[in-house]
Order: sequence, then structure tokens, then C-alpha cells
Amino acid sequence: MKITNEKNDIESVLFSEEMIKTRVAELGAELTRRYEGQEPVVTCILKGASFFYTDLCRQIKCPIHMDFIAVSSYGKDARSSGVVKLVKDLDNNITGKDLIIVEDIIDSGLTLKYLRELLESRKPRSIITVCLLDKYECHPAECAPDMKGFDIENQFVVGYGLDYADYYRNLPYIGVLKRECYT
Ligand code: IMP
Ligand code: MG
Repeated sequence: MKITNEKNDIESVLFSEEMIKTRVAELGAELTRRYEGQEPVVTCILKGASFFYTDLCRQIKCPIHMDFIAVSSYGKDARSSGVVKLVKDLDNNITGKDLIIVEDIIDSGLTLKYLRELLESRKPRSIITVCLLDKYECHPAECAPDMKGFDIENQFVVGYGLDYADYYRNLPYIGVLKRECYT
């Protein structure tokens, strides 16, 4: 099927703009409490986490530093290749810093495992992962994020930063992509 009208390709809306906004505010409030008196480095994993990241940062009411990292994406596959490649590194030295890694979604857990190990090797003072969506059935428990927005079942979702073949990122909600759009 050719990708035509973005809305027509969505089977159902899982999380509306309103639901996302409410949950992001809750996560921001929790991070504000947790990092009171500190200056965490909040790191965005490009590109999928971009909207979640900018919304979340605005809900953290203590001083933060922003940085960005990019890893290779799925391309046109709806499943992870298992090989994660660093495409863009952080600009800042994180040694001794409190690091918050912000990710869009965890599937197999490979992306976050790779990044966590890479960044831990630089000896930050602390490190946590915050993920908007968790496909909790798809990875071992030890790959679970420290904080998450929502659990979801094993289905392919797009919108609010999440893509298929770089489409659908700018949908303001998160929806399930019709199977015929990616098979
Ligand atoms: P993992 O390495 O298998 O955990 O895959 C995580 C990455 O795959 C995320 O950062 C997303 O870019 C992408 N991904 C996994 N599931 C989905 C999905 O349902 N929709 C869009 N992207 C996804
Ligand atoms: Mg991603």
C-alpha cells in the first residue's frame, strides 16, 4: 500500500494529544522532585523522542542541560535489526553529571541497552532512562526503563515523533499503523 493520507493509514488512536500531555506533565513533576537542587543533563535520542523530549523538558522545573544523540534507525523495517550504530554523539562531557536518557519506545531493548552501556562507560554520576512507551512483552525485565509513560502491547505505533520509514512523525497523537502500510 502506498502511504497517502496519514490519517487514513491509522487503525486506531492509542493516546490522544490530551492523554500524552497529562502523562508528560506527571513525568516532569516526578523528575522535578527527584532532581531538586541538581542540574541533570537531559539527553534526547533522535529523532523519535524529539517531541516527547521537548515537552518533557518544559515540565522539569529545575535547571537542566540539553544534549542530543542519534543512533541508526530501522530504515524501512518494522523490526529492529539488532545492530545499533552511533550516528551523532553528545556535544558535552558527561563525566560526573546526572544523566537522564529520554527515548520514545522500547521494543527489544537493544537500542537503550547499547546507549546505556556506552554512556555509563563515560562515568556519569548517575544515569536513568525515561521512555514514553514500553512494549513490555518484547524485552527481558532488566531492559525496562526506570520511568515510563505508558505500557503498550506488541503492535506498531506511529505519531508524536514515532515513524515508519520516516513518515507519520508529525501526527499529534499516537496511533496504531494499519498492517498493510508496512507489510
Ligand atoms: P529496540 O532497540 O528494539 O528496543 O527498538 C527501539 C527503537 O525502535 C525505538 O527507538 C524506535 O525508533 C523503534 N521502534 C520500536 N518500536 C516501534 C514502533 O512501534 N513504532 C515506531 N518505532 C518503533
Ligand atoms: Mg528511536
